[in-house]
Amino acid sequence: MKYTINRGKELGTDSFFHKRRKMDISAKTAFISGGASGLGEATARMIHQGGGNVMLFDLNAERGAALAGELGERADFAQGDVQDSGQLADAVAKGMERFGALHFCICCAGIGPPARVLGREGPASMDWFKGTVGINLIGSFDTVRLTAEQIAKNDPDQEGERGVVVMTASVAAFEGQIGQAAYAASKGGIVGMTLPIAREFAKLGIRVMTIAPGLFDTPLLASLPDEAKASLGAQVPFPSRLGKPSEFADTVRNIINSPMLNGSVIRLDGAIRMAPR
Ligand SMILES: NC(=O)c1ccc[n+]([C@@H]2O[C@H](COP(=O)([O-])OP(=O)(O)OC[C@H]3O[C@@H](n4cnc5c(N)ncnc54)[C@H](O)[C@@H]3O)[C@@H](O)[C@H]2O)c1
Repeated sequence: MKYTINRGKELGTDSFFHKRRKMDISAKTAFISGGASGLGEATARMIHQGGGNVMLFDLNAERGAALAGELGERADFAQGDVQDSGQLADAVAKGMERFGALHFCICCAGIGPPARVLGREGPASMDWFKGTVGINLIGSFDTVRLTAEQIAKNDPDQEGERGVVVMTASVAAFEGQIGQAAYAASKGGIVGMTLPIAREFAKLGIRVMTIAPGLFDTPLLASLPDEAKASLGAQVPFPSRLGKPSEFADTVRNIINSPMLNGSVIRLDGAIRMAPR
C-alpha cells in the first residue's frame, strides 16, 4: 500500500504545518522535589543540560548536595521533607533568591513501602498509610501550591504561558497490586487532582500534567537483585525492559514543549498492566 502525506495546501490551509514550538528552557528555573535521585535527578540533569537552572529539594542531603555540586553553576540544593510546609517554603524562597523566578515545578519525591491491610501482625499501621499519603500526595500538593504562587508572577510568553507543573503518579494509581493500598491511594490522589488544578491554573497560563511511570530503573528498585530486575523488565510488553530515568526526563521535556498537553495523565509504561500481585 502506498501512503501519501497530505500537504497543507491540499488541506486548504497553509498554516497546517506550522513551525513546532520548542520552549527555550535556558535561563528558566525548575523546582524539583525528590531531585537528588532517580527520575528527579534525571530531570534535573536534562533541564540543566538545556541551559536551565535547577533548585533541588530532597530529604537526602548527601546526594542532593553532591548533585548540585557536580552540576555547579545554575544548580542549588535545599534539604527538607515535603511533609514540612515550612521547609518547602524556605526552599522555594531560596530558589527565588538565587535564580529570580520559578517556571517549572516537578514533583518526584515519593516512597512506596508495601504492606497488607490485614498482615500477619494484624491490621496495617495507620502511620504507614498516613505517611505514604502524606509524602506522595499531600507533599506533591504542597509543592505545587507553593511553587505555583511564584510561577504565577512570571510575565506570560507570547501564548500567555507562565510555566508548567509536572507531578509523578504511577501505574499503581490504576492497577495497584496487593500491598499497594497506601501507594495506590496516594498516586490515585495525584491523578485526581491533576485536572482540577489545571482548570484553576488555566487563567494563570500554568499547565498541569502528571506522568504515571511503569517500571523504571532507579534507586527505588536498587535493593532488588539483577535477576529480579530483569524479570520485572521482561513483563513489559515493549520495549521489554525497565524504563531509563532519562526517558522520564524526555517526557517532562516533551510536556514542556507541547502547549496542548494540559490537565491529563501520561502513562509511561511500555504497555505494562500490573498483575494483582
Ligand atoms: N522507579 C519506578 O519504577 C517508579 C514507578 C512509578 C512511580 N515512581 C515514582 O517516581 C517518583 C520518583 O521515584 P524514583 O524511582 O526516582 O525513586 P528514588 O528513590 O530514586 O527518588 C525519590 C527521591 O525522593 C526523595 N524523598 C523521599 N521522601 C521524601 C520526602 N519526604 N521529602 C523530600 N524528598 C523525599 C528521596 O530522598 C529520593 O531522592 C516517586 O514518586 C515514585 O513513586 C517510580
